[in-house]
Amino acid sequence: MAARILLPLVAASSCLPQAWGWGAMGHETIAYIASNFVASSTASYFQSLLGDTSGDYLASVAAWADSYRYTTAGKFSAPFHFIDANDNPPSSCSVELSRDCGSGGCVVSAIANYTSRILETSLSKSQRQMAAKMVIHFVGDIGQPLHCEALDVGGNSIDVTYDGESTNLHAIWDSNIPESISGGSTLAAAKSWATTLTTAIETGTYKSEAAGWVSDLDINNAETSALAWAKESNADVCSTVLAKGITYVEDNDLSGSYTTTATPVVNLQIAKQGYRLAKWLDAIAAAT
Ligand SMILES: *[C@@H]1O[C@H](CO)[C@@H](O)[C@H](O)[C@H]1NC(C)=O
Ligand SMILES: [Zn+2]
Repeated sequence: MAARILLPLVAASSCLPQAWGWGAMGHETIAYIASNFVASSTASYFQSLLGDTSGDYLASVAAWADSYRYTTAGKFSAPFHFIDANDNPPSSCSVELSRDCGSGGCVVSAIANYTSRILETSLSKSQRQMAAKMVIHFVGDIGQPLHCEALDVGGNSIDVTYDGESTNLHAIWDSNIPESISGGSTLAAAKSWATTLTTAIETGTYKSEAAGWVSDLDINNAETSALAWAKESNADVCSTVLAKGITYVEDNDLSGSYTTTATPVVNLQIAKQGYRLAKWLDAIAAAT
């Protein structure tokens, strides 16, 4: 989920760990949730396609697209990580595909493109493998509210303070807030957070709503499904991310009550996208 333009600069000039989209840890959490819910035939299909029979087969590739985008070969894929909703938060949030998905593509069109490429048997196995890594990543990115917002480069150019450190609004949603919930940036932290959220989906807080998260999911109308996810994320920009306006986030250390308010939103977005990823991969595997 990484930041778009400014992130490499920020990462190079600070001692903070590099932030990639939800940060690698957020992507890995989504991937572990998905691996907890996929059908066993889906697991076999993707383990074979990805060439990894371990339990980490989704998590270990979940952040790959965020390094690929910074390579010469992968530069074309940079716009696929977000959709630039040209709305007006916090008073008005909205996403429109024709207005907001640029000519170079966006996260909504990318989910559709790479979903169909996994199933395109005329492509080589390595191309289909890359398509799978893209889908696993972008179903995560689209759940980060600031990946569905154009304002100030998705919050990258809004300077904020988190726990005394200078950073930007996008980065704290990618990494600082998720890491404050999971307790770290490691694969182990992701796995443990995924276990907590899996239980919440199966028997806890999300039990009654989880079916609704996937009721309209349709890989044959992939853009429609993905656009609905983008609209949910974007709505969070008005209701939570910038609810108190830009001046508020610039003037307060965001590791306190701001993070307390953001935490249930981040938990929900990660849980939803993990569960949706499971059902999405199930539908792809069933279509082969
Ligand atoms: C679909 O993916 C391929 C392979 O990465 C890429 O070359 C192409 O530009 C993508 N098409 C769209 C419409 O995003
Ligand atoms: Zn990303």
